[in-house]
Amino acid sequence: MPVKVGLCGLGTVGRGTVRVLSRNAAVLAHRSGVGIELVQIGARNAVPDADTGAIPFTRDIFAVATNPEVDILVELIGGIEPARELVLTAIANGKQVVTANKALIATCGNEIFAAARARGVTVAYEASVAGGIPIIKALREGLAANRIRWLAGIINGTSNFILSEMRDKGRQFADVLAEAQLLGYAEADPTLDVEGIDAAHKLVILAALAFGMPLRPDAVYIEGITAIQPEDVVYAGELGYRIKHLGVARRNGEGIELRVHPTLVPERSLIAQVHGVMNAIMVKGDAVGATLYCGPGAGAEPTASAVIADILDIARRLDGGGRDATPVPGGGPDAGEPLAVLDIAAAESAHYLRVSALDKPGVLSQLAQILSAHGISIEAIIQKEPAPGQDHVPLIMLTNRTRESEVRAAIGAIERLESVSGPVVHLRKEALDDA
Ligand code: HSE
Repeated sequence: MPVKVGLCGLGTVGRGTVRVLSRNAAVLAHRSGVGIELVQIGARNAVPDADTGAIPFTRDIFAVATNPEVDILVELIGGIEPARELVLTAIANGKQVVTANKALIATCGNEIFAAARARGVTVAYEASVAGGIPIIKALREGLAANRIRWLAGIINGTSNFILSEMRDKGRQFADVLAEAQLLGYAEADPTLDVEGIDAAHKLVILAALAFGMPLRPDAVYIEGITAIQPEDVVYAGELGYRIKHLGVARRNGEGIELRVHPTLVPERSLIAQVHGVMNAIMVKGDAVGATLYCGPGAGAEPTASAVIADILDIARRLDGGGRDATPVPGGGPDAGEPLAVLDIAAAESAHYLRVSALDKPGVLSQLAQILSAHGISIEAIIQKEPAPGQDHVPLIMLTNRTRESEVRAAIGAIERLESVSGPVVHLRKEALDDA
């Protein structure tokens, strides 16, 4: 008997999933051992088309969640409500669930996984993080022997696409964002992408799996890519770095750092070579060392690839009568580990500072004194000649690894200097090679 799937949502990922299920039906039947049959599609606004063919269609998504024929409900409508209610309804009706919805898992995952556990069903969510990259499987299975020290990655394809196109082709932000929307990379509300919120949702899921901590979307420090200025891309390049939008989750002794922000990474590092819609996640385990997972982070069929992998996993397990004992995010702390999420003030990283300073003797030494008073050492510095008619010059500094609170205090003192004009531009820098 084939495993019967009901799919809700016919956006980019929904249509991609229908297409790949149909195109690869024979190989999926072989791999699942039982066959996968799409028995109903629900979508509130979309219309059936050539891709959906003769599959029964309804505008009532809840009819799919309660359809007695359906074994697995695939939720691809996105957003929190009614996705939350749909998934909880499916669980209450004894359905297995597959979702690509990171906002839902990050925000309501604690409730959803508890309901699934109580009902004895699985909620699978590989497609919720990093599109086609099997990073959830890697954390849950491949790296299960390790204590994870940190993970860091490019986890928003739209932001990486925009940064790459702006840097490599000199294109305008709005123009590239419009193309990302056209290509189906961006969220329905693209501010979620460019303001870092989508990356924060994904980071929360990864951290909860890696560290066993609760899902805490409220606790992430978030900066998007909208404030990145073109001259900082150029200065970073002169210093041997590229600016990437990273999510970072790290144990730092006192607790867990959770932060997403533009970050300077060494030009020679593998992650710096990850362009366009590609995502890449580095995971450092105590036994395995540093590992890197790379692939398309958004788009119809890459995301469908992850959705269908979850369907296959569940189909095989249903066929074998097996219980799902794999860990879920927030499933419990690693023994003896601190799980408190630290305020950004306690985070540690190196920093990039750009100061607009008066071009006169002694100013550089004032800056150095302030940094030194906060225990910050300057690792690299460049100063430009003043532009014609200008009396201020840009001074760009890279610092050593320092607590964020010290850097912020130093920035405050620098901005109060009479010889400095405007706010200091502040970005973080990660070498991604530490223990
Ligand atoms: N909008 C998301 C991105 C889609 O650009 O990464 C995949 O989650």
